[in-house]
Amino acid sequence: MPSVFIKTYGCQMNERDSEAVAAQLVAKGYSLAKSEAVADVVLLNTCSVRDFAEQKAINKMKNLVGTAKKDRPGQILGYMGCMAQSRGKELIEKLPDVDLVLGTQKFHRVAEYIDDLIAGKRAKIVDIDAEAKSEATIREHLLNGSARTSVSAFVSIMQGCNQYCTFCIVPYTRGEERSRTIPDIVAECRELVSRGVREITLLGQIVTSYGKRDPSLITHHSSLSPFVQLLDAVHEIDGLERIRFTSPHPKGYGDDLVEAYARLPKLCESAHVPLQSGSDRILKLMHRGYTREKFLGIVEKLRKAKPGIGITTDIIVGFPGETEEDFELTLSLAREVQFDNAYIFKYSQRRDTPAAEMPDQVPQNIREERNHRLLDLVNEIAARKYDGFIGRRVEILVEGPSKKNAARYTGRTRCNRIVLFDGSARHQGQLMDVKIERTGSFTLYGDPAVVNL
Ligand code: SAH
Ligand code: F3S
Repeated sequence: MPSVFIKTYGCQMNERDSEAVAAQLVAKGYSLAKSEAVADVVLLNTCSVRDFAEQKAINKMKNLVGTAKKDRPGQILGYMGCMAQSRGKELIEKLPDVDLVLGTQKFHRVAEYIDDLIAGKRAKIVDIDAEAKSEATIREHLLNGSARTSVSAFVSIMQGCNQYCTFCIVPYTRGEERSRTIPDIVAECRELVSRGVREITLLGQIVTSYGKRDPSLITHHSSLSPFVQLLDAVHEIDGLERIRFTSPHPKGYGDDLVEAYARLPKLCESAHVPLQSGSDRILKLMHRGYTREKFLGIVEKLRKAKPGIGITTDIIVGFPGETEEDFELTLSLAREVQFDNAYIFKYSQRRDTPAAEMPDQVPQNIREERNHRLLDLVNEIAARKYDGFIGRRVEILVEGPSKKNAARYTGRTRCNRIVLFDGSARHQGQLMDVKIERTGSFTLYGDPAVVNL
């Protein structure tokens, strides 16, 4: 049977989609190729969130087309994911050697389409239509694909987003919010746990809105939000040790979710709270639905409910109309909150989004300059926070050998920090205590504490 290589760009949702597509192909008899150079089929799972991600995938495809012509005539080349969805057949018009363009609601059709292309039944396939119930089709897992996936797995709970932040292309590439049922999700989690998984990350574009648009999915006599009902249900699974979720929206941290951190021991003390900007004026233009003060209130509630909780965020610099004063409000908020880590993005104009048409687009050099200033600040704060771990004993879940040095093993703390230590295969999949001895850039170095020997 032919072999397939999938290259993934972008977020964890894309990683998860690629894994599910790979698993479907393996179930149909395809093998997974070690590299694109030896594969019969190469799929690029694309990201559209920023222009840079799109350009990377397009350049990659141009290279693939060049090598295929020279060395591997007959190799099947395809785009899938967000850019496939937003650009559709235009991708084949620009690069006619591309065979397949598969949208975000069509991953379950991949084997059928590749079979047809290989058999020569169809010459080109573009399918980016919407498909009812596609949210429940991403369920296959490849647990032995990597060390990490054997103890820690991602489970997709919903697709799409209806928040329509004015800068964001996701509502257009992923469609309307659609949620899977609680029993369906719990069954998938149980199955993973029975195969050795100990940590599950619930995934979606806006997980805190889980179930809100599908009232038939949830219990109405509960005062808890559907997302917290789901957390409760997953929490009951015996053998599951840790629960995480991503990506939430700040407005989703209601009292019930904040209390869940204190109430549910398996829910890890780490919260991603995407800020985007510290200026109320910009937050409004972004259509984020909260203010600076509200955001600070959420962080305070979380830290009170779960002291030591790791708080991470996303921030955009150079949104249209952002003045120096607005940007300084972001700096001051970052200083005030002291994020454990922050992902900073230079604003990127996305086609058909409202912000792309807004006046006062910020010049590129100012976006760069603000990016550096904010990065310096958040890195300084994060490094100080990392240093605070030295001498402390923390529980980690061991994922496997480190990619760079096989004698080192890697695990994560409950607050989602990476820990490296001198380990061996017997540690894999274990929850163990380590004492933190020193820190590196966004890494802690630990010594297995005596109790584990
Ligand atoms: N909820 C989604 C958000 C997707 S985008 C998720 O699954 O993570 C992730 C981050 O990219 C956003 O939080 C935002 O900070 C950034 N981002 C989104 N659109 C952007 C744009 N047009 N330019 C720059 N950064 C952007
Ligand atoms: Fe994008 Fe805002 Fe949704 S950032 S994914 S539109 S919450």
